[in-house]
Amino acid sequence: MPFVIKFLSVLSFFIFSHLSFSFDQSVDFETAIKRQENYSYAYLKKNISPPGTQPGFVVASPSTRDPDYFFHWVRDAALVMDVLQAYEKNQIKRDQYLQNYVKLESSHQKKNKLTDQGEPKFLKNGEAFFGPWGRPQNDGPALRALTNIHFAKSLYDRNRAAAEQLYRPELPANSPIKIDLEYVSHQWANPDFDLWEEVKGTHFFTRIVQLKSLKEGAMIAKKWGDPEAAKWYATQQNKILEQMIQFWSEDQKQVFSTIKQVGGRTEKVSHLDASIILASFFREPKESWSFNDERIMLTFFKLIDVFKKLYPINKDSLVAQKLNPTWPELGVAIGRYPEDVYFGGQPWYLLTSTFAEFCYRNANALNKTSQRTINFKDSNLKLISQKYLKDLNAPSWKKLGDEFLARSIFHAGAAGEMAEQFDKESGSPLSAVHLSWSYAAYLSAMNWRKKL
Ligand code: NOJ
Ligand code: NOJ
Repeated sequence: MPFVIKFLSVLSFFIFSHLSFSFDQSVDFETAIKRQENYSYAYLKKNISPPGTQPGFVVASPSTRDPDYFFHWVRDAALVMDVLQAYEKNQIKRDQYLQNYVKLESSHQKKNKLTDQGEPKFLKNGEAFFGPWGRPQNDGPALRALTNIHFAKSLYDRNRAAAEQLYRPELPANSPIKIDLEYVSHQWANPDFDLWEEVKGTHFFTRIVQLKSLKEGAMIAKKWGDPEAAKWYATQQNKILEQMIQFWSEDQKQVFSTIKQVGGRTEKVSHLDASIILASFFREPKESWSFNDERIMLTFFKLIDVFKKLYPINKDSLVAQKLNPTWPELGVAIGRYPEDVYFGGQPWYLLTSTFAEFCYRNANALNKTSQRTINFKDSNLKLISQKYLKDLNAPSWKKLGDEFLARSIFHAGAAGEMAEQFDKESGSPLSAVHLSWSYAAYLSAMNWRKKL
């Protein structure tokens, strides 16, 4: 080999080996995101009822050690199945997936457990996990109620009898949705572990999903002929809503992820957490704490700022675009929270895709108003947003969304594999392989992109 070529190939190996081996520069961006969509859905389906498990079992990841994720987590499963029911277009297939899920979850609901419906995960033999763990995790039953409510609503006009079985007024509660709503409506004020299973206290994400489940729960209770329960759920929902203001810090101009901490890990001194962005999807646009609430937006940009500095891979944002000009600049890789030490504290696929979805949702909301651009009231927000958004209109939000999506795909494997995390220095997949939630978050972002 002539020396120059050899030198160049060694050089390019050196440059790209620590970034990503799998980037295929011959594929344009639109094709790449579509291809990743197909991969994501195919891998996701492989994680549902895999060999050796019962129908409806959603394995968090097929990884059985370092970390062992071969469990059905109530939170992951509910989020994944809710994306699946929005995504799967074939009604027969969709119903089958959801029926299996409801059946397995109603058996989990009735199992012997340490913390009632707050129990976080189940084994492939159908039993609850009894080892030491952060429990209860009370976002789980709220998310499960939401997924089941969406399924019940979709069944209502087609199969009234089946829909009615999902919520029955009888007490003590003995139907899938009502079991969770009773638990949420009586337990929400108690401290629990956060969605990352680390901190015990009162959490923004958990409160928002509890609020949402009680709101949708009140509607279904009313429609399904249980007016007293509807009133009770609505009252609890309002109580939660009144307390949400406690998460806002006027001094720091950000939403806090946890207040009133009573246990668990104590590193998170910034109180910043990407789960706040995920939570904002459970509010309607224009409602408080929604993705277009200025307080949430401020928190969003602060998170971007912090992760931009924290992860070395964020330094080179032009790497894909240099190789293929149809690619956007790569957005900032996003992790759970800046002080995270789990697997060394790395960026997560699911959160980077969630940040893309946040942008697409904002673009979508702007397209629906006559106003077309946002006028931020807060001067801090005006300033910080200028760093990432050219204009405050839908095309700018879409562009920013594409940047996050590009970042997520850029670090996926050659055949679209997404693990839980990717290395903040090398960009390679890390921790649990084929994480179901990574694929679901990607599909959910794509669903919103398609509305634009
Ligand atoms: C396992 C949990 O799933 C993860 O979220 C957490 O960071 C680690 N345990 C360390 O506490
Ligand atoms: C760790 C994450 O922190 C938690 O949110 C998730 O439920 C489990 N992994 C399983 O994916």
